[in-house]
Amino acid sequence: MPDTLTVTDNRTGKQYEIPIKDGVINATALRQIKTGADDIAGLATYDPAFMNTASCRSKITFIDGDQGILEYRGYPIEQLAEHSTYLETAYLIIFGELPSAAQLKEWTTQITFHTMLHENIKKLMEGFQYDAHPMGVFLSTVGAFSTFYPDAKKIFDEASRKKQIHRLIAKVPSVAAYAFRHSIGRPYIYPDNDLSFTGNFLNMLFRMTELKYKADPALERALDVLFILHADHEQNCSTSAMRGIGSSHVDPYSAMAGAAAALYGPLHGGANEAVLRMLNEIGSVQKIPDFIKRVKAGEGRLMGFGHRVYKSYDPRAKIIKKTADEVFEVTGKNPLLEIALELERIALQDEYFVTRKLYPNVDFYSGLIYQAMGFPVEMFPVLFAIPRTSGWIAQWEEMILDPEQKIARPKQVYIGAPRRDYVPLTSRS
Ligand code: CMC
Repeated sequence: MPDTLTVTDNRTGKQYEIPIKDGVINATALRQIKTGADDIAGLATYDPAFMNTASCRSKITFIDGDQGILEYRGYPIEQLAEHSTYLETAYLIIFGELPSAAQLKEWTTQITFHTMLHENIKKLMEGFQYDAHPMGVFLSTVGAFSTFYPDAKKIFDEASRKKQIHRLIAKVPSVAAYAFRHSIGRPYIYPDNDLSFTGNFLNMLFRMTELKYKADPALERALDVLFILHADHEQNCSTSAMRGIGSSHVDPYSAMAGAAAALYGPLHGGANEAVLRMLNEIGSVQKIPDFIKRVKAGEGRLMGFGHRVYKSYDPRAKIIKKTADEVFEVTGKNPLLEIALELERIALQDEYFVTRKLYPNVDFYSGLIYQAMGFPVEMFPVLFAIPRTSGWIAQWEEMILDPEQKIARPKQVYIGAPRRDYVPLTSRS
């Protein structure tokens, strides 16, 4: 039995055999079905928000939402969070395999080598208003990189691509830290290349007058785990933006400015901030039943619950909860934790949430951790963008090298006015 879909056009009685491969049909195969005598383009599909349309074949990240599985290049997220580091995971995501000891050493050296920002980048960042949102500063600066590294335009030159990959992974923590220091009026801290990736990031964020900054190892590791969890999540809004913009063959910095802009939106990178706002609004454990009642009546959502893809549980949420315990041992408990735990306990027993398969997602606890570590809420999307850089750049390179890809250009269904003649201004009512 061939793996095909048989489509019968009831108007003409004609039958079409559409091949099924990897669980999908090729939408262009529908073009042979004509919707009328003068239809040249043929039948198309309508799918706003890409609810049921695959835009690429990818070897990077696998998600099974029903079973709560997330894998990078085949490795389960739980194993990477336990045994790997963010830098090693970034290598895996970008190059497809875990590095050998020599490859990891070389990769770490390259990343360390590129952490500094050009002094003119620093000047550019100084030009922002004192209260500029760090994510706005971040995405503008990443876009500005394209003017500093014009060699990045050679997107089909492997050596050039590799150089931009090193630069991007290495420089995003420096940009993020500079944006943060600018927002609180503190002097910039240059990278310290003796430190680990996250150790150096914490140094650039929080160092004051001490000669050498040493982050608490538990916090350094917790941030590294959070970075592993956020490194990639297949074809989400910002990754689709990275691929879509990159498909015009623009340089990766310009494409990534667009991806970061997509992440800036409250429906994507801003949910953990919304969780904190919600917990603050609830205010005390006693007020939880009333809040749940209002959510069930449709007067708002339980932020940090539910997911478009994960319908049994979000595997990242489980890991994050454990990480939260480790962080709170060092920082002391976030006072909002008690409310979060009770909210979770009640929601997981409530028929409304159980029947709709609503479970805590990655954002339910991440905001609490970041707040306990001393980050203001404005930094949350920036903290998401740093590790997601590895995912964006891996997806971009995969798209560039995929012979099936072309410039992204969706169709539309035109529902506007039919052809009409121009009316001079004096004749308009
Ligand atoms: N609280 C209360 N009810 C909810 C929630 C929620 N958080 N999420 C979904 N529902 C209800 C919704 O009202 C609907 O009920 P009904 O069938 O009676 O109309 C049903 O569950 C299905 O909801 P949906 O909106 O069709 O589900 P979706 O897959 O389109 O939305 C979601 C997924 C994540 C946008 C949604 O669950 C939500 O808004 N959650 C809160 C925001 C949040 O935490 N976002 C972070 C997502 S994880 C970030 C990442 O992976 O990058």
